[in-house]
Amino acid sequence: MEIVDYDIVGRGVAKKDGKVYFVKNALLGEDVDIKIESEGKNFCNAVATKINIPSAQRQKPECKYYGVCGGCQLQHFSVKEQLLFKKQLVQNTLKKVGSLQCKVEDVVASNKQYFYRNKCAFASQTQNKRTLFGMYKPKTKDFVEIKKCLLASEGINNVLSLSAKFFATHCEPNLKELVIRQVGDSFLIILAQKGKLTSLDEFQKYLSQHGIRYGLFSNHNLSDDEILSSNNIYVAGEKWLLLNEFSTEQKLFAGSFLQVNSYVKNLLYQQVLQLTNSNEQIVDAYCGIGQMTYLLSQKAEKVIGIESVSSAISSANELKEKTNSKNLEFVLGDVKQKLSSALKGLKNPVVVLDPPRKGCERQVLEILGKSRVKKIIYVSCSPISLSRDLAYLSGYGFKITLAQPFDMFPNTANVETVVQITR
Ligand SMILES: C[S@@+](CC[C@H](N)C(=O)[O-])C[C@H]1O[C@@H](n2cnc3c(N)ncnc32)[C@H](O)[C@@H]1O
Repeated sequence: MEIVDYDIVGRGVAKKDGKVYFVKNALLGEDVDIKIESEGKNFCNAVATKINIPSAQRQKPECKYYGVCGGCQLQHFSVKEQLLFKKQLVQNTLKKVGSLQCKVEDVVASNKQYFYRNKCAFASQTQNKRTLFGMYKPKTKDFVEIKKCLLASEGINNVLSLSAKFFATHCEPNLKELVIRQVGDSFLIILAQKGKLTSLDEFQKYLSQHGIRYGLFSNHNLSDDEILSSNNIYVAGEKWLLLNEFSTEQKLFAGSFLQVNSYVKNLLYQQVLQLTNSNEQIVDAYCGIGQMTYLLSQKAEKVIGIESVSSAISSANELKEKTNSKNLEFVLGDVKQKLSSALKGLKNPVVVLDPPRKGCERQVLEILGKSRVKKIIYVSCSPISLSRDLAYLSGYGFKITLAQPFDMFPNTANVETVVQITR
């Protein structure tokens, strides 16, 4: 079979006798033998079993769990091919989902292909009285034990490996997920549980004995669907991580968002900054702990950040106070309820949107469509919701004037994009 395209998760696409084949482990231009794994009326899910004519862009995956745990999709792509794939993905999704045609810039690369994540979540399962950590294969309940994740920072891997050793002998069937976040030499460790844990005191001692600077939190979750609820309960150690960025210090609490790849985060913030002018007044909607909001305030006349997580807003306000930023304001609340009043009275209003994966709510887009806003900078980790939202805004006369993808998540099929729209 000849591979003629990619699908959105980086599988090769082949076509034969009116059927479309989605082939795992196959690169564009390759000729491969396949094994069919499942079949529908017009399509087959398959895997390449033999590569007859390999692509020059094929590389050997580094991770022994690749293809098993499902966390990465592109380890067999060269870096060049990954970047090309992500550019096409953004371009095609804008076209297919949003009916939007525009030039998409070359993807800005990460400095690291591996060990770039400052946060990782590992599923937990107890088997034969051993509590293990790993991943669930995508869309299944099949658990894969993981001893090392090549996307996670070295520090996170160290804490994972210590936790795995500890819980192998301290069985905790109620433990469902282990989240580890790292800033500098410190870690926040969040244990999501479906019932009581019995060995927390010993776990604390064990971490200290191994020289780990940590804050320990438990997260009690009662629903089957949502593993990690937003309710992190402090157990012991440090209450926050201390970010030392932008020439100041700022607390990062367990429930606050931080972009996972710090190097790419900074490039992305510089891009957003470049798209703004000094005479503009900006609303930074979905501002998290306000780092980008603060950078914008150094250039713009005035910036208002809106964010619904209160611990993130207290970090943001700390940043404002420490930097004595008089033209910076943070509002706690839902963007759909706070956006209109934030826009009121602003001159030359510009809006930065950086919503969660599901994109903006319809009310938010409607407020923007009906407002005086002439420029929106939309930061998105999902080309699908981005395209849907941009298509809606195009109905209000907005046109794409820049689409710049960033490789925030190397080796996975995810991509972050900054889009500027103006009218
Ligand atoms: C993708 S993050 C972006 C954060 C920030 N711009 C950054 O670069 O770190 C999205 C943020 O939106 C917040 N959020 C989600 N839904 C929201 C809503 N309806 N109203 C306000 N904030 C929301 C989340 O808590 C999170 O901090």
